[in-house]
Amino acid sequence: MLQIIPSNIKPSDFHSYMVGAIAPRPIAFVSSSDQMGGINLSPFSFYNAFGSNPPLIIFSPALRGKDGGVKNTLENAREVDEVVINVVNYAMVQQMSLASTEYPKGVDEFVKSGFTAIPSELVKPPRVKESPVQMECKVKQIIQTGVKGGAANLVICEIVLMHINEDILNDKGIIDPYKIDQVARLGGNWYTRASKGLFEVPKPLKTLGIGVDALPESVRTSKILTGNDLGMLGNIEKLPEEEQQLLYENRTDVKIFFSVLAGDPENLTNEVHLEAHKLLSDNNITEAWMLLIAHQKK
Ligand SMILES: Cc1cc2nc3c(=O)[nH]c(=O)nc-3n(C[C@H](O)[C@H](O)[C@H](O)COP(=O)(O)O)c2cc1C
Repeated sequence: MLQIIPSNIKPSDFHSYMVGAIAPRPIAFVSSSDQMGGINLSPFSFYNAFGSNPPLIIFSPALRGKDGGVKNTLENAREVDEVVINVVNYAMVQQMSLASTEYPKGVDEFVKSGFTAIPSELVKPPRVKESPVQMECKVKQIIQTGVKGGAANLVICEIVLMHINEDILNDKGIIDPYKIDQVARLGGNWYTRASKGLFEVPKPLKTLGIGVDALPESVRTSKILTGNDLGMLGNIEKLPEEEQQLLYENRTDVKIFFSVLAGDPENLTNEVHLEAHKLLSDNNITEAWMLLIAHQKK
C-alpha cells in the first residue's frame, strides 16, 4: 500500500488524494448575500447532511489554497447569517461549474452563469429557480479550523424552509432518484451523474470566463441550446481570433451550410443552433463559437 503522512507532502497534493478518495460528494450550490444586498452563488462539495431533527447541513468554504484568502461565500455567511443551498442536477452542471469561477466580490454569479435568482421567503439570499430542491437555511455557527490555505470553515446551517419541484416526486410523493437527476463531485475533473455514471467537466478557467451574460441574445434565448451548452460557451476567456474565424468562414462545407437556408432565417437559426449543440456535445467549443459568430454576421 502507498502510505502518506499528510505533513510530508504538499497540501495541494494531499488535497488531490483526499478528493479522489472521499467521493462521490454531493454539491451544495450556495447562494449568499452581503449586508449591502450583493449576491453570490458558488458550489461546495465539502458538504453533507448531519441530522434531520433539527435538519442540519454543513458545508465548508476553505481558505484559498494559493493565499489563504477568505472566499466570498464565507465572508457573506459571516455578514448575513443566512444562505440557500440549492441541489445541482445534470442539466445545471456546466453553468454550476462556471459559477465556481473566482469572480471578484461584487460580481453576481447568477448573472455570469445565467441562472435565475428568485426571492426566498424566510431568508435574504435568493434561490436558484432552475434547481429542483432549494433549502432556505439559517447559519447557526461557523467553525474556523486553521489559518493556512486549504483550512476548513465549517458553516453549520439549519434548514428553515425546503422547496421541492413537484416534477421530481414519484406517485407516492417521494423524491424519485431518476427525476431529481443529481450530480456529485469526485477528484480532478470527474463528476458522476447518479443515474448514469462518470463524466468530466474541465475546471473553469483560472482566467475569468466571459460569462453567459456576454453571449449574443439569440444564443442566450435559444430554444435549442441547453443550459449546459450556454455554460460551456460562457466559460471561454475570449472569442476566436479574427484570422481563425475567417479561415473557418471560408471553408467550403461552412459556405454550403449557410447557402442552403440563406432565404429562410428562422430555419437557418434552428439549424445553426442544432449544429452548435452537436459540436458542444463533442466538446468542440471553438468550432461551436465560430459557427455562432459566422451566423451573427448573416
Ligand atoms: C463542484 C465544485 C465543488 C467545490 N467544492 C468546494 C468546497 O467544498 N470548498 C471550497 O472551498 N471550494 C470548493 N469549490 C471551489 C469554489 O466553488 C470556488 O473557490 C469559488 O470561486 C468560491 O466562490 P466565492 O469566493 O464566490 O465564495 C468547488 C468548486 C466546484 C466546481
